[in-house]
Amino acid sequence: MMLKGKTIIVTGGASGIGRATCVLAASEGANVAIADINKELAEETQGLVEAEGAKAIIIEMDTSKAADAKRMADETVKAFGTIDGIVCSAIKLKPSALEDLSEEDWDMVIDIGLKGYFLCAQAAGRVMLEQGSGSIVFISSIGGVQAYNGAGAYSVAKAGAIMLGNLVGVEWGNRGVRGNTVAPGQIPTPMTAAMFADPEIAAGRAAVVPMGRVGEANEIAEACVWLLSDRASYVNAATIKVDGGQAESKMMHTPGRNWGGKKIQYKAN
Ligand SMILES: NC(=O)c1ccc[n+]([C@@H]2O[C@H](COP(=O)([O-])OP(=O)(O)OC[C@H]3O[C@@H](n4cnc5c(N)ncnc54)[C@H](O)[C@@H]3O)[C@@H](O)[C@H]2O)c1
Repeated sequence: MMLKGKTIIVTGGASGIGRATCVLAASEGANVAIADINKELAEETQGLVEAEGAKAIIIEMDTSKAADAKRMADETVKAFGTIDGIVCSAIKLKPSALEDLSEEDWDMVIDIGLKGYFLCAQAAGRVMLEQGSGSIVFISSIGGVQAYNGAGAYSVAKAGAIMLGNLVGVEWGNRGVRGNTVAPGQIPTPMTAAMFADPEIAAGRAAVVPMGRVGEANEIAEACVWLLSDRASYVNAATIKVDGGQAESKMMHTPGRNWGGKKIQYKAN
């Protein structure tokens, strides 16, 4: 078991990638703190974690509030004695063209998706620094390495998450606390469900991935659990793309001729 006896917090653990990470961490032996604003969905995750034979607590909170982040760390230590890792996944997306993006929507996405990542990592990180060990994982996106048009402040928050992972790794690495970032590709979750409900869009989204399919939340959770574990003991300030190759696939969609002069047939996969 990769996380036997460890205590892991997952923000946004009530749904999607966060939920998959809670369940996989539990199956690998972790105690899990599900930190989310949605108590009902968090209770569903709690049931799934307990079905793995693990212990779970729910921390109903708003990750963008410093007082909530501190309470998250305090309640986790109270329940399980310490904190060994945190995955920051909570997000609220507000799509918008840049010219229409309101100050309120910019603040909301940055507050949850970037400031909230910092506040939760700081609160949990203080406990990890005290014990001299820990692992912090930020969920970014391929939208953090490529500008995601029409997604409002999303790409900016996600690019910031990568730098936050680097900063944690550089600043706390010599005190036993590693910081890393996972950048998922396209994953059907409640956040993206409406998009994937359209068969034409779903097929088109799969077609732009070199592997010919979109990913599953569990495939992102695998990377998170590995980074949380001691098996990733020398991985620090790294960004791991888990996207089927999508972020590197631009040439696949670029018309042209091959070196022999033969016209390249455009092929989705
Ligand atoms: N689904 C994808 O295709 C995809 C791709 C790349 C990156 N990501 C990233 O993965 C992470 C998880 O996304 P998902 O698709 O699982 O989304 P999701 O909507 O299924 O889950 C997000 C969770 O965050 C919680 N949340 C929202 N605001 C909160 C707040 N203020 N405080 C506490 N909790 C809050 C929600 O209640 C929900 O449980 C996000 O950081 C997202 O940007 C997702």
